[in-house]
Amino acid sequence: MRKIAIVNQKGGSGKTTTAVSLAASLAESSKRVLLIDLDPQGSSSLWFGIKDQGKLFFDVLTARAPLEQAVQPTKIKNVDLISSSPLLSGVEKALYQEKDAEHNLKHAFANMQSASWDYVLLDCPPTLGMLVLNAFVLAKEVLVPVETHVMALHGLLQLLKTIQLIKERLNPSLELGGILACRVDMRTKHSNEVLGQLRNRFQDKLYQTFIRENVKLAEAPLHVKPIIQYDPSCYGAADYRALAKELISQEVCVEPA
Ligand SMILES: Nc1ncnc2c1ncn2[C@@H]1O[C@H](COP(=O)(O)OP(=O)(O)OP(=O)(O)O)[C@@H](O)[C@H]1O
Ligand SMILES: [Mg+2]
Repeated sequence: MRKIAIVNQKGGSGKTTTAVSLAASLAESSKRVLLIDLDPQGSSSLWFGIKDQGKLFFDVLTARAPLEQAVQPTKIKNVDLISSSPLLSGVEKALYQEKDAEHNLKHAFANMQSASWDYVLLDCPPTLGMLVLNAFVLAKEVLVPVETHVMALHGLLQLLKTIQLIKERLNPSLELGGILACRVDMRTKHSNEVLGQLRNRFQDKLYQTFIRENVKLAEAPLHVKPIIQYDPSCYGAADYRALAKELISQEVCVEPA
């Protein structure tokens, strides 16, 4: 089972778009996927048409409730979801004094009777708080979506340092899975230049696949469908299918969980 945290502290960098589109694309290739929506904004959940006001996941993170209870199927075959609710914004406060609280999600996962997913994708909020720390402790890989914009590169180096720190202090198994260039606009010189800089600097840590700017990706959540169903032949669908293939092709090299 590959557990991948999709993280960038910069808002609007393509985390949710990647989480949902990749989940559906992996599922299309017969992979069983659990998507965990850790963002109190609940954007991934809403994309699947789920507006959760409940406290099931909150209780998993704060009161040792079983994780099974929070898992629900989606309309997409092979994709299960742990949905977020606005209550998750209270997790920080609830766990303020609890020792080792960043391990709560990992413990909940370990206590599951059966976890038969091939991929667990964690859609993280754009703040490096307790929710993201829980994702970092559960995950083995971090996927960092970045907009191909020079401003987006500044925060990236800081994030890579944070990942290294988490690896040293909380989760020695954590690795940077890769950086995913998102919203690439091939028509602009700037976007191409930033893509070139990312390639030079990060080399094999940059996924070969990059995600092009495609308005269909912005429209899809309004239609409550992942991109591969909303418009199966658009660029966005092609790019996320390519990303799923790239991840699947790495499987032989990835150690089992
Ligand atoms: N490749 C793309 N082409 C066009 N629009 C995109 C693309 N990727 C993302 N977007 C749009 O950019 C916005 C931000 O994307 P998204 O919600 O995935 O980012 P995020 O990192 O999850 O944001 P947040 O930090 O708020 O959770 C959304 O309106 C989304 O539709
Ligand atoms: Mg998001």
